[in-house]
Amino acid sequence: MRNYYKPTVFLISLWPIYIIAYQLIYNKLGPEPVDRIINHFGEWTLIFILLTLSMTPLKIITNSLEWIKFRRMLGLFAFFYATIHMLSYVGLDYRFDFEPLIDDVFKKKFIFIGFSAWLLLIPLAITSSDRMVRILKKSWKKLHSLIYVVSIFGVLHFIWLSKTIFFKPLIFLIILIILLLFRINFKKFNLS
Ligand code: HEM
Repeated sequence: MRNYYKPTVFLISLWPIYIIAYQLIYNKLGPEPVDRIINHFGEWTLIFILLTLSMTPLKIITNSLEWIKFRRMLGLFAFFYATIHMLSYVGLDYRFDFEPLIDDVFKKKFIFIGFSAWLLLIPLAITSSDRMVRILKKSWKKLHSLIYVVSIFGVLHFIWLSKTIFFKPLIFLIILIILLLFRINFKKFNLS
């Protein structure tokens, strides 16, 4: 792999930050800036989860291992954006007032599932280093299968909060189903 690929992907992955910074500086966040920020990072979290899940199918389709080298970085960006998304909700929407917040987590199913998805991302981020791969050996793969649960929770979160599946949540759902079907097929035909 050319040694400028990774820094390039890193800089491109910061795109959601550039957009928000631009909109903040030029006062273009619209009439509901807090909602705009929360939704922006929520959507990008889901995009990065799906990008992370796309690396293995791309490896198979292109017959190139290069894609796998970006997987960890994209996964960590998913966690990074999920954390900003969660913190903007906790900090900007609720001003860190935890009582009504905890109420929300248990009363609104879309918050509950979003929060569960974020919690499940934590062990994945913590164990993402090469050292942890070596320490955990076979359990590492099992643990990291949690990304499938996170992706399903993330899409469900989007469908439930939108109250309708049309259209953006449906697009994410279709992409997720395709990416998950890839896994089932690979196992069936013994390709991975
Ligand atoms: C992996 C974790 C998560 C993913 C993938 C995710 C994804 C999303 C997406 C796609 C949206 C909608 C964006 C849009 O409308 O364009 C959204 C909105 C939202 N999310 Fe999340 N989210 C996650 C975790 C969380 C967590 C931990 C919380 C809070 C505890 C949360 C609270 C919200 C709220 C309050 C909204 C805005 C709802 C509204 O429009 O009223 N999410 N999220």
